[in-house]
Amino acid sequence: MTVPNNHPEHDRPIQLKTQRLLIRTMLETDLSAIFACYDHPEVGKYTPPIRWPNLEHAVTWYHRRRVDVLAGRAKQFVIISKDTGAVIGTSVLFNIDATHRNAEIGYALGRQFWGHGYVSEAVSAVIDHAFGELELHRLNASIDPRNFASNKVLVRFGFTHEGTTRQSYFDAGKFTDCGIYGLLAHEWRNPPVGADRTPSSG
Ligand SMILES: CC(C)(COP(=O)(O)OP(=O)(O)OC[C@H]1O[C@@H](n2cnc3c(N)ncnc32)[C@H](O)[C@@H]1OP(=O)(O)O)[C@@H](O)C(=O)NCCC(=O)NCCS
Repeated sequence: MTVPNNHPEHDRPIQLKTQRLLIRTMLETDLSAIFACYDHPEVGKYTPPIRWPNLEHAVTWYHRRRVDVLAGRAKQFVIISKDTGAVIGTSVLFNIDATHRNAEIGYALGRQFWGHGYVSEAVSAVIDHAFGELELHRLNASIDPRNFASNKVLVRFGFTHEGTTRQSYFDAGKFTDCGIYGLLAHEWRNPPVGADRTPSSG
């Protein structure tokens, strides 16, 4: 599939490093490792589209996402363990709006990597990138209100729960609500005294 490269700068590879992780631009060659990493029903419990039904679907998804990346509307990352070199998850900035300087953030880890504080490390680096290099002013996040782990992650980062849109998604024969969260650049740079962005269990 050929897509116009609207601005070569949008396709510049990004590498973010933390103590234990490398967070870099996703490549098509990562798809099979991500597919294997997310092969657990709990990973897609509240975000079904994260789990692709097969690799063919993953490739189609990847090329659709590339259109947004090349247009500057998304930055798609894969999260890798520095120790093992294994893919442990993904994160994304999408719906990037350069005019209003906002974007939506998403993240997921393979089931065996939950509970080790990896998401805090990885998402901190992605938020730093969003408010630093990309000069965004606001990050949005939307989650299923039953997704307690993700709610905790967002609150720990200083996101404010700004409301809930009722019956926003139709999944498995039911409508589900959507919790809307927002984080402003100055809230990230100047967290309240005593705020702790590390998980109690990590
Ligand atoms: C969201 C996700 C990345 C969190 O990863 P994680 O490694 O479990 O994160 P943490 O270990 O930091 O746990 C988050 C917190 O939720 C708590 N938690 C986990 N499961 C919980 C549950 N069922 N009920 C209440 N709290 C829960 C943890 O104890 C932890 O609390 P703490 O901050 O006080 O330490 C992971 O659950 C995931 O990949 N889920 C699937 C994808 C997804 O839902 N993505 C978010 C939507 S974009």
